[in-house]
Amino acid sequence: MTPDWTPAFEAVPRAAFLPDLMWPHDMETGRDVVVDRTRDPEAWQGHADSNNPIVTQWDDGAHEGTDPGTSFSSSSSMPSVVFSMLADLDVHDGQRVLEIGTGTGWNSALLAHRLGASNVVTVEVDGDVASAGREALERFGLPVEVVHGDGFHGFADRAPYDRVIATCGLRTIPYAWLEQTTPGGVILAPWGTYYGPSEATALLVVAGDGRSASGPFTRPVAFMRMRSQRRGWPRHGEYVPAGAMEAADRSTTRIGEDGFSSIESFDVVGFAMGLRVPDVVHLADRKKDGRRPVWFYGLTDKSWAVVDFRDDRKEATVHQSGPRRLWDEVEDAYHWWVDRDRPGFERFGLTVTADGQIPWLDDPSNTWLP
Ligand SMILES: C[S@@+](CC[C@H](N)C(=O)[O-])C[C@H]1O[C@@H](n2cnc3c(N)ncnc32)[C@H](O)[C@@H]1O
Repeated sequence: MTPDWTPAFEAVPRAAFLPDLMWPHDMETGRDVVVDRTRDPEAWQGHADSNNPIVTQWDDGAHEGTDPGTSFSSSSSMPSVVFSMLADLDVHDGQRVLEIGTGTGWNSALLAHRLGASNVVTVEVDGDVASAGREALERFGLPVEVVHGDGFHGFADRAPYDRVIATCGLRTIPYAWLEQTTPGGVILAPWGTYYGPSEATALLVVAGDGRSASGPFTRPVAFMRMRSQRRGWPRHGEYVPAGAMEAADRSTTRIGEDGFSSIESFDVVGFAMGLRVPDVVHLADRKKDGRRPVWFYGLTDKSWAVVDFRDDRKEATVHQSGPRRLWDEVEDAYHWWVDRDRPGFERFGLTVTADGQIPWLDDPSNTWLP
């Protein structure tokens, strides 16, 4: 936390924005636990004051009962992440901020404490979450305007903003956000590709002419994706029907499975591969009898590839099929990344224009997409 955020941290406790029933995610064990303030207020307070993320809604509200549901759809992020992002946002007195993803309302309350409630507006896609966030903000005495809607469109009615901060993960940064931000203003958003779950916060500064925004990634994060930018798993059978394996091209590779076997957030290889190889999803099977097949599925056509990593062999067998040679693309991308001294998240950046988004390494001019 930067010192300028200490007064807000002290005055606006996370606990004031959390529901009685909630599911803290223990970062050490990876487990979701359930805690109910009416049954165990001390445990509830302990979790509220911890640095763990806390799930507050499952399955877009369809889930009932106290057990964890299938997928979390709203949460209070880790306080350390909240404050790192607020530090990156670099707000100044009098500035106007648009937040995407109201959730509990805590982040907008922190911004409102710092800038004044009338300078903050927040958009939440889920009606129940928006209502709960609005009530919590009013109860706390920081009546930020909470808009129930799709934050992909921003909120033109209150534009222009000096800062836009997204607290859900994006794969495409909407041009509408640039149009609603003043030149020199900042857009901060967790961003990743379809390749895997790795994402990082893009810190984009809007150009003087307002037509582009560009900047580096600042740190790896793990946010739930924006609703409209979620994507289910590819259906294996649609890519690899019976007999497709026998008909596919066969080759070998000497690359080890290390950069490919874990499908995890905070994985820089996965992040870099996604930047270099667009429109591909990467999945790794569980290791069985010393063998781990790793799959690649194309999103623009039905191209696929599988690498069969085996503990007892230095060379892995590759099968590829379809108009794209996905493993060749990924292997090239991997060598590119190694040859550049394995850049971390912070050496990459992103430029957004009306025509799309272009990733880069070290400098906006050092890009590779047409
Ligand atoms: C990690 S939570 C936000 C945490 C929140 N800022 C807080 O302080 O508690 C992500 C939120 O983004 C919301 N969300 C997802 N897609 C959205 C969209 N298209 N527009 C607005 N909000 C969205 C989710 O419903 C969820 O409440």
